[in-house]
Amino acid sequence: MDDLKNSLGFRYLQETKFDEKTLWGKPRLDIAPAHPYKQYVEAEKIKLPTDWEMDISLHEAFQSRRSYRNYTDTPLSLENLAMLLWASQGISGRAGNFFFRTAPSAGALYPVETYLSIQNVESLPPGLYHFQPADFGLERMSDGFAGKRVAEGALGQNFMAKAGVVFVWSAILRRNFSKYGHRGLRYVMMDAGHICQNLLLAAEGLTLGACPVAAFYDDQLNRLLDLDGEEESVVYLAAVGAKE
Ligand SMILES: Cc1cc2nc3c(=O)[nH]c(=O)nc-3n(C[C@H](O)[C@H](O)[C@H](O)COP(=O)(O)O)c2cc1C
Repeated sequence: MDDLKNSLGFRYLQETKFDEKTLWGKPRLDIAPAHPYKQYVEAEKIKLPTDWEMDISLHEAFQSRRSYRNYTDTPLSLENLAMLLWASQGISGRAGNFFFRTAPSAGALYPVETYLSIQNVESLPPGLYHFQPADFGLERMSDGFAGKRVAEGALGQNFMAKAGVVFVWSAILRRNFSKYGHRGLRYVMMDAGHICQNLLLAAEGLTLGACPVAAFYDDQLNRLLDLDGEEESVVYLAAVGAKE
């Protein structure tokens, strides 16, 4: 048991448990919130199409989804990319000033940002992009094929360089921690999981292959995206490409 107790994860889980006797008496952390949307103001903006269709039923998607790593050279269409973005982080509802998204988020705080390494997508030059849910568009951050660097950053998992697109999700911790304090990290990671699963099922629905990836050198990918690794840090990736 001591072997487990020595792990950081064990201690985190113990120390962030809610307990009915102590919960309301505990002092709250004082963490300032962050803006709900990140924007690359100077970046070129690309509007995404909204006319897409899924090829298979949700039932079939659940049944057939498997992590897929053997991508072909067939490019993804812009419509497919748009569908993947909408399924994973699209705005799908509104209540007053709150905008809700396709994936749930603790407190509707949406701490997860979506970046794309566009590697083989029709009518989009390879490069790094940021998804802007509010406009349903992309912000072009930098040009040039980044697939090799993404793969290197993912512990050398070379299949990622062959993907049409790699989704790179970061978390802006303060968006969530300002409300949930120590426990917030649990929720941030759950949010990322929901987002990724939506993406995987949507990819299946478009008969594309996708694979989630959590093995990566955090700060290598943070540097690639020019993130500081503290306020905002990469938490999860997924590669998507055409199937053989
Ligand atoms: C949190 C998480 C991290 C993962 N990281 C990687 C990874 O770094 N590389 C990889 O090839 N697959 C990765 N996978 C995919 C798993 O290997 C895969 O989901 C598992 O073998 C079950 O197979 P299936 O997804 O086809 O059902 C990851 C999956 C999850 C959920």
